[in-house]
Amino acid sequence: MIYFDNSATTKPFKEVLDTYVTVSENYFANPSSIHCKGGETERLIHQARKMTASLLHVKPSEIIFTSGGTEGNNLAIKGIALKHSERGKHLITTMTEHAATFESFKYLESIGFDVTYLPVDEKGRISLEKLEKSMRKDTILVSIMHVNNEVGTIQPILEAGNIIRKYPKAFFHVDNVQGITKVPLSLKEAHIDLCTMSGHKFHGLKGTGILYVREGVTLSPLFTGGSQEGKLRAGTENVAGIVATVKALRMSFDQMKPGVKKMEQIKRFLINELSHIPGVLVNTPETHSAPHIVNFSVENMKPEVLIHSLEENNVFVSTRSACSSKQGGASRVLVAMGFNETRATNAIRISLAYQNTMEEAERFIELLKESISKLQEVMR
Ligand SMILES: Cc1ncc(COP(=O)(O)O)c(C=O)c1O
Repeated sequence: MIYFDNSATTKPFKEVLDTYVTVSENYFANPSSIHCKGGETERLIHQARKMTASLLHVKPSEIIFTSGGTEGNNLAIKGIALKHSERGKHLITTMTEHAATFESFKYLESIGFDVTYLPVDEKGRISLEKLEKSMRKDTILVSIMHVNNEVGTIQPILEAGNIIRKYPKAFFHVDNVQGITKVPLSLKEAHIDLCTMSGHKFHGLKGTGILYVREGVTLSPLFTGGSQEGKLRAGTENVAGIVATVKALRMSFDQMKPGVKKMEQIKRFLINELSHIPGVLVNTPETHSAPHIVNFSVENMKPEVLIHSLEENNVFVSTRSACSSKQGGASRVLVAMGFNETRATNAIRISLAYQNTMEEAERFIELLKESISKLQEVMR
């Protein structure tokens, strides 16, 4: 099998699954229970929080465990908007955010917030000048993704943070679901107030996530109830999931340097090979893009047809982000980058993990060429 759909989700590390089972078997008590078994599980969460904080160079009290990227983005965005609406009702985001962000802003717009959607250039990057010009006295939140999930574009987060910090009323949220463990980002240096991460994108478990909330930043919770996670997320904690996913984060960081180097080589190879195939157009920019995503379109070819043809050879890629891949139609991200409707509809995404090899990439190119010529033949 050649699994090139790692931006949709990754295979959990074996050690992560083992940890999940061990914790589920031996530490099943409710961390809120006051008996010693509850205390033991509570300590496990405490250790996981400390480990996460140390990996991200922040404080344990700034870590909130969530159910994933969608919840993290919703909690950060709606949480800030609803808590701080008296300070202002203007929000800024970009046109190429993941649906979890985009739809959160659409919802806030529907209840009276004013949202500026920053455009992007042909590489998918926002303009810092436009960001600065969009900042207003009543801007309370700017949300920009670090790495785009469809094309891999890296946004200038550090520079954006330096602009936003000049506006004390505005909080800065970053969706780092695709960037964490692939593209370095210092939360402190970029003056980030809130940052979303998701466990299943770095070989952790689905239904787990991390939201960084800088000390002093207050939010309205999405769920109310018990006082778990600093009252920001009521509900009995997913103890085994949390411990296992933090292990995945540590293991991914341990493997990051050689892993990223390898992915960069494979990505360069793929882009180079793809750009020589007649009818193939590479959509991922060569610069300012993450090491694990390569997006391309094939002229006159529906992506689903190509995906299923590759699948017959045990090769797995996707059309775009997993959650919108079934919707069909043109990609909002590619349209925002200025590509025409057909190119934006025909896009295919390859996404890598540290474990992928150059041999797999070579085989992929062979199989892709075969599939394209076979399908072209049928269409003739
Ligand atoms: C950039 C980005 N943000 C948010 C999400 C949502 O994460 P989750 O699947 O954990 O809800 C994804 C998932 O594809 C993503 O790629």
